[in-house]
Amino acid sequence: MVENTGGIEALLQEDRTFPPPEEFMRNANIKDPNVYEEARKDPEAFWARFASELDWFQPWDQVLDWQPPYAKWFVGGKLNASYNCVDRHVKNGRRNKAAIIWEGEPGDWKVYTYWDLQREVCRFANGLKSLGVQKGDRVTIYLPMVPELPISMLACARIGAAHSVIFGGFSADSIRDRIDDSQSKVMITADGGYRRGGIVPLKQNADESLEGETPVEKVVVVRRTGSADDKMVAGRDVWWHDLVEDQPPTCEPEPMDSEDMLYMLYTSGTTGKPKGIVHTTGGYMTGTYATSKWIFDLKEDDVYWCTADIGWVTGHSYIVYGPLANGATSVMYEGSPDYPDRDRFWAIVEKYGCTICYTAPTAIRTFMRWGEEYPNRHDMSTLRLLGSVGEPINPEAWVWYWQHIGGGRCPVVDTWWQTETGSILIAPLPGITTLKPGSATQPFPGIEAEILDESGNPVGPGGGGYLTIKRPWPSMLRGIYGDPERFVQQYWSRYPDTYFTSDGAKLDEEGYYWLLGRVDDVINVSAHRISTMEVESALVDNSKVAEAACIGRAHEIKGQAIVAFVTIKDQVPTSDGLITELKAHVATKIGPMARPDDIYFAAELPKTRSGKIMRRLLRDVAEGRALGDTTTLADPAVVESLKAQYGDEE
Ligand code: PRX
Repeated sequence: MVENTGGIEALLQEDRTFPPPEEFMRNANIKDPNVYEEARKDPEAFWARFASELDWFQPWDQVLDWQPPYAKWFVGGKLNASYNCVDRHVKNGRRNKAAIIWEGEPGDWKVYTYWDLQREVCRFANGLKSLGVQKGDRVTIYLPMVPELPISMLACARIGAAHSVIFGGFSADSIRDRIDDSQSKVMITADGGYRRGGIVPLKQNADESLEGETPVEKVVVVRRTGSADDKMVAGRDVWWHDLVEDQPPTCEPEPMDSEDMLYMLYTSGTTGKPKGIVHTTGGYMTGTYATSKWIFDLKEDDVYWCTADIGWVTGHSYIVYGPLANGATSVMYEGSPDYPDRDRFWAIVEKYGCTICYTAPTAIRTFMRWGEEYPNRHDMSTLRLLGSVGEPINPEAWVWYWQHIGGGRCPVVDTWWQTETGSILIAPLPGITTLKPGSATQPFPGIEAEILDESGNPVGPGGGGYLTIKRPWPSMLRGIYGDPERFVQQYWSRYPDTYFTSDGAKLDEEGYYWLLGRVDDVINVSAHRISTMEVESALVDNSKVAEAACIGRAHEIKGQAIVAFVTIKDQVPTSDGLITELKAHVATKIGPMARPDDIYFAAELPKTRSGKIMRRLLRDVAEGRALGDTTTLADPAVVESLKAQYGDEE
């Protein structure tokens, strides 16, 4: 029933187990397995305890108001996210503790103490106000991994404006769509960012995205590379350094309602149009604070490094809000892992003495292929905990990570969650859980997950089906910006009052969760979430293309690779040149991460009699498998001819 997106059988044959190492267990923040039972008995009290560890300007009157599918958490409470991430640590003895340790790709680096961060956030918040940004406005942020990125986010949060961060790899068209949807009046960008020795031309993309009609009135530009000094648009663009120069280093935090929007973040769904996922203040802060503290076992002297880009939700929750709400030291790196050499990550671990490292399976598989020689060059004995996120991790990569990065002494926490969930929902508690490589293990305390079959019955131990979440949780999405119907239809219409994740999962006999990948038309390429529809729309946007169908096929390093089957218009000759052109077209329309790996020309696409493209059969062709059930095909000859051209003859 649930489609297998590759490697699952291997996953489920895994029987190695890794109990928490003695010393880790002894020192862990959470040692008592009863936390699960306590949270199960009274989840609201469980979450309220975490919420009360944050600073509130006004206490809440009600923990949860649940009118399915609409949840309100900490109703009536008022707080400010930037105050919780910055000011309270300045007040409570962490003034001179490193909040952010940042390293640029060229090797420049900078440490921001909590006090530094407070002053920078306030200056920029005042700068935003001087540009007319008010509570309730949206601000688009399109920045590389520079300190101004978290500073901008926290400055928006401080004055009550919602940020909409766009990953630096997106193209002008993608930025334009997101700006139009969010109706941002202000955009923050940089002249460029460093990546693999080159410069990513962010300002150029930003300028293109603003051509013609746009709601954006002002653009703040960070000077990072010096590559766009002559490109400033008079009356619209202002340099970051000029904007903050005369601003005072204090700015009163805006008391925000617990349910006021903190930010929106676009993610791909099953249609061509990205969804602006809305997160609010009190619940999101509670969820990211709690999971950071328990899953990463954060201690006062940890140096915590999440290698994600802040352009994705992992960076929002686990570089910025979660670690900073805990008063932790969060490391941020601008560039690529192989610049100037393939040991860059490990050089960073050694240089700053990182104790926790949180990365994606695709990166781990890449490191595995490069070989142990690179981590072996460095002293990584400070590491004590490792994390994985973004896609299923194959046991081989898990064990390699444990052995060669963690030196066989660090628990590996595989964390399952989504942009929509705001914080981690399924993951081990490293001082308690016995790990199984490839399994995200158990729902976090207070989270009630259930795997359901097609008709909504729990599958029980040994069964597989759709992963759902039964009870509301604090950091859950509150909606899709501007599209309330899609919110209900996408997440709440499959099963009554139950959140539908779109992920397949299996439960083993001991109740461990094994995530199997998406069951919808979303593909996961190097832990980047890409909709097949988006890539298809980008392809048919090219005048030579009549029709396109995309699928994800299993890929050794990336998890999944994008394969496009394209029907071109009559009279257009097919050639390798056309393949290159179409790949480039997709990269221009969406961004380089959506560039298809393979493009196959097809005289016709396999469709059902009602005209629906049968992607499952295309996947069979691309992965060289025997074809599945073809009885619903309108014209069986279509897929046979495709298979003869591209499939492995079996
Ligand atoms: O399919 C799941 C996969 O990534 C999807 C969510 O993508 P996104 O919203 O971009 O968030 C990524 C970072 C949280 C999920 O629907 N996924 C994420 N983490 C895991 C995972 N699949 C398996 N195991 C994981 N640990």
